[in-house]
Order: sequence, then C-alpha cells, then structure tokens
Amino acid sequence: MENTNLGGNVDPILTGLLKPKSIAIIGASSNPDKIGYTVVKNLNESGYEGGIYPVNPKDPEILGHKAYPSVKDIPYVVDAAVITVPAKVVLPVIKECGEKGVKGAIIITSGFAEVGDHATEDALVATAKQYGMRILGPNIIGTLSNSDKMNASFAGFLPYDGKATMVSQSGALLIALDAASYSRGVGFDKMISIGNMSDVNFADLITYLTDDPHTSCISLYVEGLKNGPRFMEAARKCTKPIVALKSGVSAHGAAAAASHTGSLAGSSKIYEAAFKQAGISQATDLNDLFDRTLAFSLQPPMRGDNLLVITNGGGVGVLATDAAERAGIPLRFAPEDVQQELKKHMPEFGSAKNPVDITGQGGHEWYYASTKFAYAHPWVDGLTVLYCETAVTEPMDIAQAIHKAIVDSGVTGKPVSVSFVGGERSDKAMRWIVEQGIPCYNAPDLAVKALGALREEARIEENRQSGTYNPENVDGQKAREIIAAARAKGRTALTEVEAKQVFAAYDLPVTATELATSEDEAVRMANSIGYPIVMKIVSPDILHKSDAGAVKVNIKDEQGVREAYKVIMDNSLAYKADAFIDGIAIQEMAPWATEVIVGSVNDSTFGPTVMFGLGGIFVEVLKDVTFSVAPINLAEAEAMQDDIKSAPILRGVRGESPRDRKALAKVLANYAYMIYDLKDEVAESDANPVIVYEEGKGVKVVDARIILTKK
Ligand code: COA
Repeated sequence: MENTNLGGNVDPILTGLLKPKSIAIIGASSNPDKIGYTVVKNLNESGYEGGIYPVNPKDPEILGHKAYPSVKDIPYVVDAAVITVPAKVVLPVIKECGEKGVKGAIIITSGFAEVGDHATEDALVATAKQYGMRILGPNIIGTLSNSDKMNASFAGFLPYDGKATMVSQSGALLIALDAASYSRGVGFDKMISIGNMSDVNFADLITYLTDDPHTSCISLYVEGLKNGPRFMEAARKCTKPIVALKSGVSAHGAAAAASHTGSLAGSSKIYEAAFKQAGISQATDLNDLFDRTLAFSLQPPMRGDNLLVITNGGGVGVLATDAAERAGIPLRFAPEDVQQELKKHMPEFGSAKNPVDITGQGGHEWYYASTKFAYAHPWVDGLTVLYCETAVTEPMDIAQAIHKAIVDSGVTGKPVSVSFVGGERSDKAMRWIVEQGIPCYNAPDLAVKALGALREEARIEENRQSGTYNPENVDGQKAREIIAAARAKGRTALTEVEAKQVFAAYDLPVTATELATSEDEAVRMANSIGYPIVMKIVSPDILHKSDAGAVKVNIKDEQGVREAYKVIMDNSLAYKADAFIDGIAIQEMAPWATEVIVGSVNDSTFGPTVMFGLGGIFVEVLKDVTFSVAPINLAEAEAMQDDIKSAPILRGVRGESPRDRKALAKVLANYAYMIYDLKDEVAESDANPVIVYEEGKGVKVVDARIILTKK
C-alpha cells in the first residue's frame, strides 16, 4: 500500500484518516436531501484540494466529480473513505475499503452499538483490523479541518479559524459548537466527531494532536471513556493544554462498590480525580469550555502568581479581585517602583495598587502607557486589562491601544487577557482584540478566570516532571503467597492478620500483630511486642468483634493477657457457639493521634483507585474524601492531603503541631502501589484507622482489611 502521508512520529494510518490526500464518499448522492450529497458539497465548498471520489451504484457523476460504482473501481490511492450508506451495508463496504487499501473509514452512519448492535460494530472493527485500517465513528458527523480546507462532514461549514482542536463524543453538539465558534469568536483548526469510538478513541486523537502543528490546545467533550488508564497516559504525555467538559456522570461506580469506601466513590469524583492527575483542565459547562479554549489556544501558561489588573472602573476591579481569589491567584499590591511609574498614567485620584484604577477618565493614551509598562515589568507574571464602556471613550480606540502596547512592549511568553463590558461598540472591539490573538471576554471575572486556568496550566507542566514512584522494600511475591493460602482455604476475605501481612509486604507501617492459638503463645507474643497491647478474636464467623465482647484493649502485663485470653474465648463462643476460631490476635497498641482512612475502589473505567480522608465524622458525616487513580507518586500523595477540606488539621491548627505529612504521603503512595500491583487479586481494601503522628514521628496502620476478587 502506498503511503502518502508519512510525517514525524505521527501514525501514518491515522494521518491518512485525519489528513487525507484523497477521499472517497461511499453513499454519495445527487439528491440534495441526502447526507451523502451534503458531504460532497461540503468538500467542494471548503476548498479541499485532494482527490474527491464519490461512490454510488448508479450515478456516473456527482457534483462535478466522476463517480464510481465501488471504492475498488477508483483507479487512484484513497486515503480516507467517508461512509454514508445505511447501517446494513456498512460491513461489506468496509471490507471493500480494506481490499482497496484505504487507510481510514469515517463512518457517519448511525445504528450500531448506540442502539445495542454491538456485534456489527465489533465486526466492523475486526474487518478493518485485518487490513490495517482505522475507523472513526460510527455515528458521527465527520471531521473538519481549516488547515486542510476539508469539511468531510455534514456540518454546514468549517469552524471559525483558529488554533484549537475540538474532539466531541456528541455529533449534534459539535454542529452547534461549529456555529457557536463564530458567534463566540473562539477559533478552531479542527473539529473531530468521535461518536461510538469503536476504534479511534480520545487517547489516539490526543496522541495524534500532540504532534499536530496546527493545534495549540485540545478541547474535549467527553461522555464516557472505555479505557481510562490509556486516556490518562496519552493526556500525561501531551505537551499541549487539554481542556475537557465531562457530562453524563453516572453512579454505576458507586452502585457497584458495596463497601463503605465504594459508597463514597461515584464515578464523577473519580473522573475528576483522573482528569486532574492527567493534567486536564476541567470545564464546568459549555461556556467555560469555550472560555478556557480561547485562553489556552491564544496565550502561554502563567509561570508565577503575580497577576496585575488594570481597570477604568472600580466595580469591575472589585469583581476581578474576587475572581482572582477564586481562581487561586489572589491579587497582591504591586511593588513601590511599579506603583510609582503607574501613577504617572492616571489622575491624582486614581489608584496604582492592584487593581490599578486609571479611573473613568482613562483614555487610550493612559491605557497604552500603563499596559505597556506593566506587561513588560518582571514582577508581573500575568496581566488582565479591564474596560468599562464610557461616554468619553471609544472602545475600538482602547482596544487598539491595548493591542499596540502589548506588541510594542516586545514581551512574549507572558499571558494577557482583556475584558470589555458594554454594548455593541464594546462587542465589536472585543472581537477585534480576539482576532489579534488576545483573549477578550464580556465580563471581568472571565478574563481573570482565563489567567487562573493558564496559571493552573503552568503548574500542570511542572508536575509533569515529577515522574513515577517505585517503592523500595516491596515483596509482591510474599503478598501473593498469603492471598493464595487464604484462597486455598476457600476464603475471599483475609483475616486482619493476613491483611496486615500483605500490607507489610508493601512496606506499610502496620501495628505489630501476631496470631496466638494458645494462652502461653499469647503471653510469649505479647512479651515480645511490648505492652500495652490489644487482643482481638480472629474468626471468619465473628465480623463485629466488639459486639461479641471479643476485643480487649490496653492490656498491661502477662496476667492481663491470660485473663483477656479466657474472656475473649468465652465471649466468642457465647456469641456464636459453632464459630470457627483461627485464634486471638495480639497487637501492638498504637497511641492515638490524628485518625485518617485510606481505602480503595476498583473503578470500572480507571481501575484501582485510592480514597483518602480524615477518619471519624469527617468521613462518615462530611464525606470529606478525595480520590486518585493508582499508582500515584509522592507529589500526588501530598496533593491528596491538600485536596480535602480538613487539610489544615494535618498541617497543624490552633497550636497543634503539624502531622507527619511526608510519612503519610509514603503510606498513600505505597498503598496505591499495592492495589495497583494486586489489581487482579484485591477487589476492595482499606486501612482504617491510620494514625498520623507529629512531624517526624511517623504513621501507624492500626487496622487493615482486604476482600479478594472472585475467581
Ligand atoms: N455503495 C455506494 N453507495 C450505496 C451503496 C453502496 N454499497 N448502497 C447504497 N448506496 C447509495 C444509495 O443508493 C444512496 O444514493 P442515492 O441517493 O443516489 O440512491 C446513498 O448511498 C444513501 O443511501 P440511502 O439508502 O438513500 O440512505 P440515506 O441517505 O437515507 O441514509 C445514512 C444513510 C447513513 C445517512 C443513515 O442511514 C444514517 O445513519 N443517518 C444518521 C446519520 C447521523 O446522524 N450520524 C451522526 C450522528 S451524530
């Protein structure tokens, strides 16, 4: 097969699909009511310069192009085939495409997995695979690209030209966003409809677009992923900003996980966690998706915290100040030298602090001078210029002054955003500024939020360097042996002693725990662990040990051990006469400090996921927990501690000394490593409670629980 589109590291087959040099439209039609007609018309009208080959069983010519009865009759190389024939004939058509050597099929046709016909969809993919062909769709509108002058879709026109690429799981929404790109002035190079994702998925496209010179920002509309870890891997490797709007959040993850930990999960929290870990900026709604896309596609990341706001109105200045706080870049007063210089470009009653208020009297000269100076000053990491329409100023003059100031400053690599609040004149000026490559919004908080997103993007870039975590002193083999021994006894729940042995094999600091099967053995073990100790029954038939009176704490000497042994045995047998008893656990009694909980869920999309929160009411009542898809590195483990609302408790509040966050980070990372390593064996587990001591004094896992997968 001739390869017409080889380039760089990019997959030549995907390139053939997305940047084809020739396109067959199978199901092309002369009937203007048919999608097969619209696609040919759109390719013509968008100025596509590659070969256009309509395929139709009866027409010899369609919209000025010679038509062929079959794709196999086309005497030229065909890179991509847009398929617009009814569902029942798509499979034989795909086979013909494969035989022809087509690189990729863009299947617009609906009526496959989305209506329950998984079998035909699977057969399409299997057939395509036989020929090394890729499939986009089915159930899509097609794909659009400004840089390729290619509208291979049934959307009316190419999007407003720009540097972002939108990938959408919803076709109808993509058509709407195509139109909205003009009214919002948000530019896209490509819009790709991904539909059922039978083959080409988000991960493939993120990887492809990472190397696409026409894409500076990737925007995603996501309903659901098929392979979470692959998606995360592609996003982590992507060096361009990715912004995603996730919809269709279902509770299937929560429902599936019956355990206490699982009930707190819910897939939306896990999606949120996974996107964050993968460095994806998360949009809250469609407007936010466009706002972030505009900022990311036009401006560089903000590499420091110093945001300076210039305004001609106190009100919008205050709104911007509030927004800066919400966006995680609270305004600080500019240094004295900056203030002195700015004072030269405002009336006596203006303010050179931050926001810098050049007042309603501020004309284009003052905007020019203050913007140019501030943008160039090294203290300023990001600049937002606000304008409120006034009777004494012309919005377009102000817009031009701001743009000229940015250009004349000679500075690059620093983000700037603008907001124009007013009527039609302001809207016109706003559009003009966007056309110059500066994101401009109709509200001050949006302009500040844009810089907040760019600040977040810089942090994502820094975190990308933090790498993977490989814990030392891990003995996975030993853990598997303990699990195999329990399975051999027909159990899928490990005893506490076994669970702690598994935890210990992953270097988790469990309290010393041994299993005694006689009173003398109990005494020997207690003496070697050291007093005080805790004693508990170990029996698969007694799950609620305290209710059975089968737990004794704070045992201080040998005499106490002997007494407790007898009482626990008697109480257990009184509670359940035929209980199978493994023995009595002899445990080190850890002094109490801050109590946290670490747990796991096996998410259907992302796999093993760690949950973390403070124990007691924090988890039970406030549900103050956070999630991370495993494995995680130490930086992510520290970030989890900051992610919960009760984070200050770990940092030390009201005279309490800070807790040992470093040791806790190691526990979280090792625990995540364990559930990832044992993902085929462990269905659920938790460490609850885990006691966190003062800084430098470590952490103790007091109780451990592991439920095995059913095999
Ligand atoms: N090879 C080439 N052309 C073929 C063919 C084949 N094997 N079999 C049929 N055709 C031709 C038909 O003759 C017809 O051309 P004509 O108008 O000249 O007769 C053309 O392909 C289309 O077939 P038709 O039966 O008229 O179907 P249609 O146009 O009414 O519908 C789809 C086809 C694909 C548009 C429709 O099945 C569909 O899936 N619609 C939904 C698409 C959608 O909304 N997708 C995006 C969701 S977001």
